[in-house]
Amino acid sequence: MPTIVNGGMWIQKQKRVKNSAMAETFIIQPGGKLTGTLKVPGDKSISHRAIMLGAIAEGTTKIYGFLEAEDTLATLAAFKAMGVRIDRPATGEVIIRGAGKRGLQEPASELYLGNSGTSMRLLSGLLAGQLFDVVLTGDASLSRRPMQRVTEPLATMGAKIECDKEGTPPVRIQGGHPLKGITYDLPIPSAQVKSALLLAGLYAEGETRINEKGVLRDHTERMLEAFGYPVEYGKGHARLVGGGELQAQSITVPGDISSATFFIIGACIAEGSDLILENVGMNPTRDGVIRILRRMGAKIEILREYRAGNEPVADLRIQPSPLKGIVIPEEYVPLAIDEFPAIFIAAACAEGTTVLRGASEMRVKESDRIHVMQQGLAALNVDAKALPDGMVITGGGVQSGTIDSQGDHRIAMAFAMAGLRAKGEIHILNCENVKTSFPEFVDLASESGLKIKTAS
Ligand code: S3P
Repeated sequence: MPTIVNGGMWIQKQKRVKNSAMAETFIIQPGGKLTGTLKVPGDKSISHRAIMLGAIAEGTTKIYGFLEAEDTLATLAAFKAMGVRIDRPATGEVIIRGAGKRGLQEPASELYLGNSGTSMRLLSGLLAGQLFDVVLTGDASLSRRPMQRVTEPLATMGAKIECDKEGTPPVRIQGGHPLKGITYDLPIPSAQVKSALLLAGLYAEGETRINEKGVLRDHTERMLEAFGYPVEYGKGHARLVGGGELQAQSITVPGDISSATFFIIGACIAEGSDLILENVGMNPTRDGVIRILRRMGAKIEILREYRAGNEPVADLRIQPSPLKGIVIPEEYVPLAIDEFPAIFIAAACAEGTTVLRGASEMRVKESDRIHVMQQGLAALNVDAKALPDGMVITGGGVQSGTIDSQGDHRIAMAFAMAGLRAKGEIHILNCENVKTSFPEFVDLASESGLKIKTAS
């Protein structure tokens, strides 16, 4: 069994995987409509980054609107385990006493990151240039996800980093290996990879430049800028020079458009709905769902546009309208990569055929989302054909049935909204991981009009 040396200590290369919590089922009664005004919780991507940059900044960072969900709390716990003082004085508020770029300490044990791919990939980059050793582990789903996409370019920068021979976690980093900036053409459209390399670049000698195909979410770049770190980005690239410092900030996290999506689509498909969503993050690298739904004929009105720090936000009003199937433009795929489970539900309720291509990344998310969605749609009698890189869905409404979300939070929430148009009850199994991104989902959905109950 291969091993790496940790300051004289040998770490056995074994896969330690914790099991998830007790299974939870969502039971949705058919019909209903979504009404009222609500705020979805803070953006997950931005919450992760605020903790990470706050932890390595000089001074005290305050975060407002932080997403208190399992994934982001895993990032927070990781930095506490590396000696950073972090307080949570009130819901959504976090105070971080920045340790500075060289102030993180070796954790006493491996860092367990639960279900959170963002934590593992971004931390791989941020920790690749530290002086101490660290091992990153995750739950059963995360332990199956590809990590070579970050370990390989980080090794090219000079890091001593490895994952399993299958390319999956744990990720093991041996500290004390100096990094050099690289120019890297991303072979896959992944903002997590781009972000990992930019975070490693903070510790590298010289320039790190990432060239991306298409447009990927740019929250890392925006937040580095907010923390006073010079970074150049836009038009398919991002670049920074290592060696600078970050200055603590006050960060307001906008609502998560990925969480808002379930409610947007629910209100689009359920007759009689009229829903206002406040404070939704509208970063143009994340708003693919709005562009796609509008092409399908959705009625989404922007009531007010404003800013939360470096990020654009808006209040939205959504009313139902007849949707039509479309061929989704491939350039929208990275702008809506997490939203396709819910968009597939809209497609199932639309007239005509919707075609998605160029989305093979969906197969390596918290589950194989193409496969799991196809199975779930078929269980509701929807005509859905899986493609290697997408799906073809012919609308016609949804019947009743039982779906296994396979522990994928976004699949559970997407099928919950299908209940608004279903012909009978829908049971969704293995929904416990909804807590990873949206712990208030059931309460907010039922307050807005979805007839949802849970059972364990
Ligand atoms: C994320 C980027 C996306 C997304 C994930 C969060 C991020 O992953 O699916 O939920 O915060 O950078 P990829 O960049 O790997 O597509």
